[in-house]
Amino acid sequence: MGDRLILGIETSCDETAVAVLRGREVLSSEISSQVDMHARFGGVVPEVAARAHIEAIRPMAHLALRKAGIHSDELDAVAATQGPGLVGSLMVGFSFGKALAWGLQRPFIGIDHMEGHLFAPRLENPNYRPPAVILLASGGHSQIVHMRDWGDYVIMGGTIDDAAGEAFDKLARFMGLGYPGGPAIDKTSDGGDGAAIRFPRALPDRPFDFSFSGLKTSVVNHLVKAKEAGNLPPIEDVAASVQEAIVDVLVAKTFNAAKETGVKVVAAGGGVLANRRLRDALEQRASEEGLELCLPSAALCTDNGAMIGAAADFRLDAGDRATWFDDVDPGLRLG
Ligand code: KG4
Ligand code: ZN
Repeated sequence: MGDRLILGIETSCDETAVAVLRGREVLSSEISSQVDMHARFGGVVPEVAARAHIEAIRPMAHLALRKAGIHSDELDAVAATQGPGLVGSLMVGFSFGKALAWGLQRPFIGIDHMEGHLFAPRLENPNYRPPAVILLASGGHSQIVHMRDWGDYVIMGGTIDDAAGEAFDKLARFMGLGYPGGPAIDKTSDGGDGAAIRFPRALPDRPFDFSFSGLKTSVVNHLVKAKEAGNLPPIEDVAASVQEAIVDVLVAKTFNAAKETGVKVVAAGGGVLANRRLRDALEQRASEEGLELCLPSAALCTDNGAMIGAAADFRLDAGDRATWFDDVDPGLRLG
């Protein structure tokens, strides 16, 4: 059903996001960010996040409907993130969505947050189709997925410790660049030399897996020693070199997976894909290899309600529906 009107709700972490979709067309996508609230704590405080979602969810849903020019009666379905994420945050969006759908007597569906990231490219890239290899890199997860068909996923690899976004966030905190760390390192790296310091690239023998905890140790050791020697490198060089180390492995391992599977389509999603250097590096590599790269715009890479609506459109076509008794699942795993 190409013109189904869906309300997509995403509240798994620190953004209250609601979107209205007509099929794959995004009519509105509204986000209320809590970044300022959490910045002074240096990270997301779960209780603060849940309370902020409670305050924001109703006005955000109203705003998304108004911007889309849609009355709630016209909705064909409601979808919300079911997991993974923070339990209190998930409960706000999921319960709101379930109650709204119940009141409207429309189908409700719970969506895996990572499947949302997997479906985001479908909103903008007409060439996005299986079989494809997809790099998912966010604050809580980093995975390489082989999508053999829509909804049919093989997890080829992932991180054995920190997620890529988590590595950006922890390193930025150590470097005194604030929270969230990914955008801070991205911005600070402007004009920096990514080859200034050669930080280690982990797990060379595991073609589809990542490890970022050693990078953190290496950066800390490097900066402590440099400080003792009175020889601290320029912060933009450190930021660019850290970024290069993370980008290098994300790109190399994604294309290892593309080679292994023989796919012609590579896609990516998750907040880390907002990183400009990562986007450039993926584009360059895809063009060298003659592969189609489907990269959503930065606003659809970071958490949003439209990606939840996009996955819901597919799931509803497949006949999936939540029941009144379904609940959030903070530990939900793709595949
Ligand atoms: O997907 P997302 O919005 O939320 C989760 O599902 O976790 O990803 C958030 C992560 C954070 O760790 C943030 O630092 C990172 O994405 N991020 C970035 C950039 N923008 C957001 N990392 C690197 N460069 C960026 N420009
Ligand atoms: Zn996410």
